[in-house]
Amino acid sequence: MSGLKRREFMKRGAALAAAGSLPLGVVELAFADDQTPDFSFAFISDSHITHIKGREFVRNFDRGLMRAVAEANLLHPRPDFVIYGGDIAQLGTAAEIDHGLDILGGLRGDVHYVMGEHDYYLDLGEHWERRLGPQYHSFDHKGVHFVVLNSILTHEAWTHGAWDSPMARMNEMARLDNPDGSPFMVGAAQRAWLKQDLERVYCDTPIVVLSHSPLQKIYRGWNFWTEDAEAVQALLAPFRKVTVLYGHVHQIQYNQIGNISFHAAMATAWPWPYPGSYSQQTSHLPKLTVPMNRADPFFERDATGWQFVNLHSGDIDVHYQLPGNTPRVVAFDAARGHPVDRHHQAPEDRLPTQDHY
Ligand SMILES: [Fe+2]
Ligand SMILES: [Fe+2]
Repeated sequence: MSGLKRREFMKRGAALAAAGSLPLGVVELAFADDQTPDFSFAFISDSHITHIKGREFVRNFDRGLMRAVAEANLLHPRPDFVIYGGDIAQLGTAAEIDHGLDILGGLRGDVHYVMGEHDYYLDLGEHWERRLGPQYHSFDHKGVHFVVLNSILTHEAWTHGAWDSPMARMNEMARLDNPDGSPFMVGAAQRAWLKQDLERVYCDTPIVVLSHSPLQKIYRGWNFWTEDAEAVQALLAPFRKVTVLYGHVHQIQYNQIGNISFHAAMATAWPWPYPGSYSQQTSHLPKLTVPMNRADPFFERDATGWQFVNLHSGDIDVHYQLPGNTPRVVAFDAARGHPVDRHHQAPEDRLPTQDHY
């Protein structure tokens, strides 16, 4: 963007922000740097729309999603599309999924949806599929191959076990700390499809995989875990540059395994605890270099957010949009060969709590 155009937009953006019609974070985001990205997309996840009764839904979770939709629509330059990372619903009912999709229907442009366990384990994905189509697919965009996986499947025996009701099964999978749950997996059938899908892709083509659970093993006790992660990683190994974007963990995580960069999404609903709190486990992410500011019990959006993603030459930088805070940027560092914190919010950057909606 030329200096003149940039100045003009900043003036216009500042005026809009002053008028209260454009969130401050979006003005900063649009000009986080002067590079023109190959393309960008928005990444919204884990809204956990929760039905109370009749037309009543938990207000806080509705508002988190509405805010992300409103902010994503204001991005400039406009993102090419939106990824939704899963867990539209809390207990998988048609009412919750439909209400979530009503809010997400306000997004401009195409949305690609990933299946979350909260969307799936009531009716095994039936309503979701009726509304949104196949549970996994791939597409190509501007030279990048995107793969959308359903990573939250599990053993047939558990899925079709002797449950008193579909809701009993849903409730078992909906808990975080749950010894009666079952580890997530992509499964043999989908891996066979993935193998076939990737056979027609050149090794130099950048690949972005979208999953709900991390395609790496972080912590089994909370199902921050995909049982066949290594088998999926092996299918992705021949490619020069692979990025996996995932939801489910409701927090910022990033990691590098071989040729694969991993980035997690913030939830629009609530944060889960951080790796530091389960680092006594044998399998966990390295200590985060910059802890996230949290949690303010008087600010219902604290430690929630959504993402704006730039993709250039196969490298990704993720701009975490944190309500009431400055954006945090995690970007691939070619010299070090893994993602790093490029910009993060210092405590003194924290904005006063504002514009609850
Ligand atoms: Fe979730
Ligand atoms: Fe989830």
